[in-house]
Amino acid sequence: MADFENKVALVTGAGSGIGRAASQRLAAEGASVVVVDRDEATAKRTVELIAATGGRAIACTADISSEADNQAMFDVAEREFGGIDAAYLNAGILQPYVPLEQVTVDMFDRLIGVNLRGTFLGVQQARARLRPGGACVVTASAAGLIGFAEAAAYSMSKHGVVGLVRSAAAAFAARGLRINAVCPGMVLSGMTGAAGLEEIVSPDDLADPEYRGPLSAQHVAEVALFLLGRHAAAVNGQAQLVDAASLSSFPPLPEGS
Ligand SMILES: NC(=O)c1ccc[n+]([C@@H]2O[C@H](COP(=O)([O-])OP(=O)(O)OC[C@H]3O[C@@H](n4cnc5c(N)ncnc54)[C@H](O)[C@@H]3O)[C@@H](O)[C@H]2O)c1
Repeated sequence: MADFENKVALVTGAGSGIGRAASQRLAAEGASVVVVDRDEATAKRTVELIAATGGRAIACTADISSEADNQAMFDVAEREFGGIDAAYLNAGILQPYVPLEQVTVDMFDRLIGVNLRGTFLGVQQARARLRPGGACVVTASAAGLIGFAEAAAYSMSKHGVVGLVRSAAAAFAARGLRINAVCPGMVLSGMTGAAGLEEIVSPDDLADPEYRGPLSAQHVAEVALFLLGRHAAAVNGQAQLVDAASLSSFPPLPEGS
């Protein structure tokens, strides 16, 4: 049986990159997927890709920094698919790299408003509305575990997301739910100026452990699926680095070693 057969999933930031790959993989594993993005056209494109492979999905336009939009996207899941089992709160933004002294209050407010406030609002909805046995995953970043001199506001927002997950684990467990974070290293996606991935490959064909370059969005999506699924039943409140060991050893491993 596919891992998400008869389950309903909601993915934010699903019009591009990691969120699109996760939506495609969740649908391939049997889930009905609510594809959420603030960009209507890209959300619809993800739905088309899923439909083309026989999957079931619906597009939902929402801005995660809005409390009303967070409520509305969970309403869509309940109305269209009868409930929700897996919430992947993945949407986020990055801003041009600048040193700390050039971070403006406006940049800080925007990054915190989307990456931290928006994720917090989604986590509150997920805790209240996931069906028992369900799970939530949020996308933090390697920059949520170590400082990032040229992207201080981004790094602060992602550290906050990790703190949110760790703090929420007990409240999720009290409802029979789990919450975890994925912390990607460098990923080829819209955020890093790389063309959006549309082709999903067999997990067997993803790059092997010797690989040290930027990851594909699907590398991260596969780990998110694991944390959303039944195989991770004992994993709660964790922040999982997904970076092919680029942060895990010092000095850094050279590419191809
Ligand atoms: N690309 C990387 O190297 C990298 C590394 C670590 C963490 N991340 C995180 O991964 C997540 C996904 O990013 P990605 O790399 O797939 O980038 P991406 O830019 O390809 O996709 C992000 C998607 O989120 C959507 N989005 C942005 N703000 C939104 C909002 N307020 N409401 C709803 N949707 C919104 C965008 O329209 C876009 O479709 C982000 O949280 C990002 O911070 C990315």
